Amino acid sequence: MAEAKKWVEPDPKRENWFWPTDELRERAWVSDPKIYEEAAADPLAFWEKRAEEITWFKRWDKVYEEEPYAFRWFVGGKLNLSYNSLDRHVEAGKGDKVALIWEPEPTDEPNRTFTYRELLEEVSRLANALKSLGVKKGDRVGIYLPMIPEAIIAMQAVVRIGAVHSVVFSAFSAESLRDRMVDCGAKVLITADGYFRRGKLISLKPNADKGIAGTSVERVIVVRRAGNEIPWNEGRDIWYHELVKDQPAECPPEEMDAEDLAFILYTSGTTGKPKGVMHTTGGYAVQAYTTCKWDFNLHEDDIHWCTADVGWITGHTYINYGPLMNGVATVVYEGSPDYPDYGRMWATIQKHKVTVYYTAPTAIRMHVKWGEEWPKKYDLSSLRVLGTVGEPINEEAWLWYFKHIGGERCPIIDTWWQTETGATCVEALPGIGPFIPTVAGRPFPGIRADILDAGGQPVSPGEGGYLVLKPPFPPALLRGLYGDPEKYKATYFGEYGPKYYFTRDGARMDEMGNIRITGRVDDVMNVAGHRLATAEVEDALTQHPLVSEVAVVSKPDEVKGEVPVAFALLKAGAQASDDLKRELIKTVDQYIGPTARPAEIYFVDDLPKTRSGKIMRRVLKALVRGEPVGDVTTLRNPESVDHLKEMVGYEG
Ligand code: WTA
Repeated sequence: MAEAKKWVEPDPKRENWFWPTDELRERAWVSDPKIYEEAAADPLAFWEKRAEEITWFKRWDKVYEEEPYAFRWFVGGKLNLSYNSLDRHVEAGKGDKVALIWEPEPTDEPNRTFTYRELLEEVSRLANALKSLGVKKGDRVGIYLPMIPEAIIAMQAVVRIGAVHSVVFSAFSAESLRDRMVDCGAKVLITADGYFRRGKLISLKPNADKGIAGTSVERVIVVRRAGNEIPWNEGRDIWYHELVKDQPAECPPEEMDAEDLAFILYTSGTTGKPKGVMHTTGGYAVQAYTTCKWDFNLHEDDIHWCTADVGWITGHTYINYGPLMNGVATVVYEGSPDYPDYGRMWATIQKHKVTVYYTAPTAIRMHVKWGEEWPKKYDLSSLRVLGTVGEPINEEAWLWYFKHIGGERCPIIDTWWQTETGATCVEALPGIGPFIPTVAGRPFPGIRADILDAGGQPVSPGEGGYLVLKPPFPPALLRGLYGDPEKYKATYFGEYGPKYYFTRDGARMDEMGNIRITGRVDDVMNVAGHRLATAEVEDALTQHPLVSEVAVVSKPDEVKGEVPVAFALLKAGAQASDDLKRELIKTVDQYIGPTARPAEIYFVDDLPKTRSGKIMRRVLKALVRGEPVGDVTTLRNPESVDHLKEMVGYEG
């Protein structure tokens, strides 16, 4: 093993608190906590300074404007996301630096690597090709691609010419694709023949065909990835390689207004219908660039690997735009973490000498289940910073990640944000700390957050409440929901009015300003007058050594108002029994107290999950309440629901 530097050290007084070492503080972009006060004193000046680090064709006239339900950043400024991701590095003499490393799933297939110059040329060819098909500024282009370099190339090409991308996760069904294409009125779709996942060839094109039938999509560009036979619609479909081969490798970037729409990304709300979250160009570019740089302390030599899919906001911001705007190498992995075995992620870190690894708590818990013998086989000493995103991380998973992946050397940056915020908003910064399991950290400098009670009053430190963002709203925050201004107002500003963006997350803040996210407010319970997040009960239960993963939902109770019900997945070899149930109750007593005791604990083989791996607590909640379960076809494992119905005696 190579000599690995130590980037963090434990707090001598507080258990499981960690701070950056001098080594890390020296290397960090920011290491003086005064940055928080400075930015708070003048957030507009703070963001202006950040904006000066990227390239503008024309400087803004005014940094920020706001009226009820609308705000604008860098008003009058002109820029292009693709220019900032590619051209400016090539112009600075870094054209030969590696920009993208693609790791295909099949182990006998070579990697593909693109330098910044090569990526710029490929993006420019596709951009010209899109123009040749009649795509113009403002037109919507659907992207339904697996994790291949062309996914990044396609997004870059679309924003280069001022068109608007709407990426749809490749594992989503034809129905989901159709909903999104219809809603955004896409003109062109970019897809692929197929891809490899868990050793199998998955055909994609037939889904794409079904999804766009009868929609506004006129042309379909098809990347040949897997070589499988696919249906072909002559006159409509075009092979990507044939389309780009004779296109010039230069395409001047469109000068976009800071507030021009950059992309739409659909996300689920409380209803079944996905909402088209709109992100504009300038504010998004500045916050994506800055948070990626500061959260992960990116320097030129970094190899950045975010394991999200490009179909999610995390993939947009921290695989594509964030790392590329920072001029580092970004890793794109096609496949599954357990192919050909449970060590694939760690083998890949060793192979490419990955320095930043950014993943989700659910993935970490899966690795916990598979066992630490897998990471132990590999040299992970290249790692400097670890990140998590997507849900509250439980202490056990945090400590496992810290020890077995980070070697107790690397900070864990627990980043809180949403599709709507476009980029991270709450996290600890590597050079400042502290890094505390289950605590995300402080609002990023220049971002103002608060925790309110139901009546709109700020709560005292340590008390639970609702997380809101305050003006000036973060530069990358959504500007609206595509085609639905009323829903935008109602969803985000309905509860507290136009001065507070309501995140719909529960949280509490300590005296220092560190925020612990307790989960979506729909998951906040009131048990015998005690406010309690289901996530807290989950956290407690996963402290038990035999529990691998657990979901807790609330159920109405005549006496207590609500009570928690737990669904627990045990580790391999563990036996479900009444004794174990009693032990779990004791664990909850130990970590929270008897009020948090689950009324019931079900031992299950599988939990219903979304395609991105989030537990669908909504389904579990409906099951225990005997309410309609709704559409489960978009789940990764819809069959798990039937089994659970039997188990809970569901009669809905
Ligand atoms: C949750 C993902 C706790 C939260 C970028 C939020 C988190 C929702 C964290 C957004 C975190 C995200 N700790 N909870 N670090 N990050 N969440 O839109 O409930 O897929 O509102 O965006 O995930 O999910 P989304």
